[in-house]
Amino acid sequence: MRPRSIVVLGGTGFVGSHLVSRLVRDGHRVRVLTRRRDRHKALLVLPGLELVEFDVHDGAMLPEALRGADVVINLIGILHESGGARFSRVHAELARTVVVACRSAGVPRLLHMSALAAAEDAPSAYLRSKGRAERYLREDGGPVAWTAFRPSVIFGPGDRFLTTFASLVRLTPLLPLARAGARLAPVYIGDVVEAMVRALEDRRTHGTALELCGPEVYTLAGLVRAVAGIVGRRCWVVGLPGPLGWLQAALLGLVPGAPMTLDNYRSLGVDSVCRESGLARLGLPATALGAVAPAYLGAPPRTRTRAPQA
Ligand SMILES: NC(=O)c1ccc[n+]([C@@H]2O[C@H](COP(=O)([O-])OP(=O)(O)OC[C@H]3O[C@@H](n4cnc5c(N)ncnc54)[C@H](OP(=O)(O)O)[C@@H]3O)[C@@H](O)[C@H]2O)c1
Repeated sequence: MRPRSIVVLGGTGFVGSHLVSRLVRDGHRVRVLTRRRDRHKALLVLPGLELVEFDVHDGAMLPEALRGADVVINLIGILHESGGARFSRVHAELARTVVVACRSAGVPRLLHMSALAAAEDAPSAYLRSKGRAERYLREDGGPVAWTAFRPSVIFGPGDRFLTTFASLVRLTPLLPLARAGARLAPVYIGDVVEAMVRALEDRRTHGTALELCGPEVYTLAGLVRAVAGIVGRRCWVVGLPGPLGWLQAALLGLVPGAPMTLDNYRSLGVDSVCRESGLARLGLPATALGAVAPAYLGAPPRTRTRAPQA
């Protein structure tokens, strides 16, 4: 693959840090735009990576920041609204600002991170804003060859989803859980990164949205039990019926850091399971949870089986 000049928005987050280290390793020139450069200086260990403080919502200035890039990658996203960060602004309006800026700066290629089940008529504001963002790519993309990625929940070192459950099952043997029957197909961060890297070169992905899922479908309760098994804890997961689950999400939404919100609860009302495998379309096998999660969730040491005595 020839080296490219790549500007990454949201390159400091969980997905971003995995993706930019791979892009640097592949020999690309990578510039990451961030709101707070001082918070992410650890990324500067990556040779040649440029970390630039910039307000990506500034549509008038953004084309200048993107000029000369071969590729722009937009990974910016939030899971909860807080302060001035609203889903409509951070997902939908920003997607339009970015694609319009790509057009005016003459950037030919745009990779955009969406989410599985994104749709303008989805039950949650998160998924609706992701759906609207995809519409803006279709409507405003013009000559920009865009590809959207729609992952189910992503796992891997640094994830917040499985590591939070791993901490919870270490704390308590009983876990009441809202939306326990929600279906998910967790996808490995290494596979998401590989899919994005392959899509860079694959013209068949232009103008499409690729769904990214792992090989197994879990219910949320099944996933928590799997995590408990990995970290060697027994945890009794109790599914909360509708109104109680709603109440749990409403209360957790008030806790600092909001481990769950009512909007997350509504997102879990639709299955996060692929209709068509984007990984298979790119010729990629999907990595199973059990193959990588024990290494970063902290599996208990294996008890050695003694050789039978003669
Ligand atoms: N993780 C998952 O399981 C998962 C599943 C499906 C889809 N996704 C999508 O994948 C993308 C990356 O997710 P992630 O898990 O890597 O998220 P993350 O770790 O929270 O990183 C999000 C990035 O967005 C930037 N950001 C956050 N709020 C912003 C705001 N108000 N204005 C401008 N920039 C802002 C941050 O950059 P700075 O702080 O440096 O400015 C950060 O680098 C998101 O679009 C997310 O919706 C993730």
